[in-house]
Amino acid sequence: MGTSQNEQQSISDLVGQYKALPGALLPLLHAIQEHVGHVPDTAVPIIAKGLNLSRAEVHGVISFYHDFKTSPVGRHTVQICRAEACQSMGSRQLEAHAKQALGVDYGETTADGAITLEPVYCLGNCACSPSVRINDDVFARVDADRFDELVSGLSLEEGVVK
Ligand code: FES
Repeated sequence: MGTSQNEQQSISDLVGQYKALPGALLPLLHAIQEHVGHVPDTAVPIIAKGLNLSRAEVHGVISFYHDFKTSPVGRHTVQICRAEACQSMGSRQLEAHAKQALGVDYGETTADGAITLEPVYCLGNCACSPSVRINDDVFARVDADRFDELVSGLSLEEGVVK
């Protein structure tokens, strides 16, 4: 997906604001994510130049911290728990189903911009594995059918599905 001129401008402005700060890279990346919604690949050369770093250094930091998104985020976030208790109750199969049903991999957003799929490591709901979080709500014992039911509501309408 391309980056709009407004996004490029915001990124350049933020680089200007942060570049004099010691240890500017992380706060700058957070600021870009907050203002633009993600840190696009096109930001890397602008950041590298502004902060006098190599592109590889900037890219390395973006990919090390899972908090940074490199593509636009969907209107809803669906997270599947990959930690041990959930895995023992079938979260691997659930994640394979989810990727296929949504047509995306982890970190990607559905073509309609509705859903971003992410892994998560324990939602504190281990007794009711496998667990899925949709936006701020955690759902227990989610199997493939229940998953389809939950996400079909998200794609069809803009309200939060319970
Ligand atoms: S392991 Fe999935 S909720 Fe704890």
